[in-house]
Amino acid sequence: MSAGRRVLEKEVRFSHSLLWKAQRQYFDEKGVEAWSGTVPFFITSNPFIAKRYAEVLIRWVQDLLQHHQADPHAPFYVVELGTGSGRFSFMTMRYLFELQKALSLKAKIIYVMTDFTASNLSFWQEHEKLKPFVDQGLLDFAIYDLEEDLSLKLEVSGQILKSGEVKNPIAVLGNYIFDTVSDDAFYVKDGQLFESLISVEAEEENVQEGMPLSLENLNCRFTRYPIAVDYYDNPLWNEILSLYAKTLKNGSFLFPLGGLKSLEVFRSLSGGKMLLIATDKGYSFLHEMEGKEDSKLVFHGSFSMTVNFHAIGEYFKILKGDVALQNERDSIKTCTYTMGVSLETLPETKQAIQSGFQNFGPGDYFSLHRNIREMKDPAISLTTLLAQLALSGWDPYVLSCFIPRVLAELPKASKLLQIAFAKAADEIKANIYLMPGVEDYYFNVGLLYHNGGRYPEAIECYQQSLASHGEKFSSYYNLGLCSYFHKDLQGALEYFKKAIPFDTERRAKEWMNKVSSELNSA
Ligand SMILES: C[S@@+](CC[C@H](N)C(=O)[O-])C[C@H]1O[C@@H](n2cnc3c(N)ncnc32)[C@H](O)[C@@H]1O
Repeated sequence: MSAGRRVLEKEVRFSHSLLWKAQRQYFDEKGVEAWSGTVPFFITSNPFIAKRYAEVLIRWVQDLLQHHQADPHAPFYVVELGTGSGRFSFMTMRYLFELQKALSLKAKIIYVMTDFTASNLSFWQEHEKLKPFVDQGLLDFAIYDLEEDLSLKLEVSGQILKSGEVKNPIAVLGNYIFDTVSDDAFYVKDGQLFESLISVEAEEENVQEGMPLSLENLNCRFTRYPIAVDYYDNPLWNEILSLYAKTLKNGSFLFPLGGLKSLEVFRSLSGGKMLLIATDKGYSFLHEMEGKEDSKLVFHGSFSMTVNFHAIGEYFKILKGDVALQNERDSIKTCTYTMGVSLETLPETKQAIQSGFQNFGPGDYFSLHRNIREMKDPAISLTTLLAQLALSGWDPYVLSCFIPRVLAELPKASKLLQIAFAKAADEIKANIYLMPGVEDYYFNVGLLYHNGGRYPEAIECYQQSLASHGEKFSSYYNLGLCSYFHKDLQGALEYFKKAIPFDTERRAKEWMNKVSSELNSA
């Protein structure tokens, strides 16, 4: 042990590590604040991924009704695990219910947002963008802990989803959650299985009552001991372990214990009929784990692990299920699993999985987006930026990445492009989901309307910007300009007056004088 460091635990089974307790405390204390800059969320909570999930979900319901005599009067529950902010849920529901309407699909689909953090649930219950779904009976909420709970109590309907109670197959969605809940760690060498026990050290000043104060900069290492394959009480899990002992030549792997505990619950709720869609960084194939040394913990406020999608696949296969894993990617992967109803008998679903996840998935989209975002190349044209916005599914976050360029170029752009950006504003505005730490999206969309001469829409957006992000010069000043060009001189005067205390360049004062004199002469 190095000087100034304290051993917090020594050679502990990974799933029993105090790190998981610290992780739980982190999310419990932070609630939705976890997303204001520390825990990454954009990659799994954007309109691109939401649209792909919605397309698979609607085809799944459609296929079940057409080919499997599912009951259109009984609910199809779509349960999202470890929901977090709710940005993904909002966008997925938008697309899902729009698609249902477009297809005239008669089915009772109920989306259930879950998390183990009560403050997240309160945030969703109050969120103006989620209320319409609740009011229409399309959305419910539950406090659900993947590692502990055996049933789900729905907050709105009061119903309890417990073993055998769910009539139709259940859909389970898990983004950035299987990497967050507990794993055990193993290693295989020449057919011998080893358990990898974790030891954790922290700087003295980062320790309080035996727990780390911050999860950053912990020193974690694994030590291996040979074990037999009947490690768990659950024979199904031991079957997965023995498969690794037989097939992995030499390498470490994680056993997704927390995730599998939860899947056992959903298997039991639904009588073994389930669709699982999960997105995370992860391994799909054995060869990706071959030769790997010990698993790495990645710290970013909380910590995460690389998910063993392959092991989840083995679980489904043992239960005679089907697996559609995403091919090798150096990004997040989206993997889909079914049990109880073969994927071969769900033709539309299979097609949607292939095109939406496997051919060009959410991870591919994010890689492209990040690359364009980070290229500060002024040669990237407005046309390319518009294409990037369209590919994103009109994401307010993507607009905020490029807004200075858009504003600088748009006044010089062709009429066609100006109209296209003003139309894009409608789509982008519909995707705004406010949460702590987000940029002033309403203001950005207001700028697009403003530039396109759509003053009433711009005024509404600037007013919403004031409500969400507080008073500032640019909102009042732009409200003044839009009111003026919309021929509301009295309104313009009021807004310029309000801008004056924030004005350092006397622009608002000049405008106020101009509007006053126009009003007087009128
Ligand atoms: C890394 S965040 C992912 C959030 C969101 N799904 C996303 O893609 O951005 C993990 C979320 O899972 C929740 N969580 C962590 N452990 C959990 C558990 N055992 N049961 C239920 N939720 C859990 C946290 O509160 C947090 O909201």
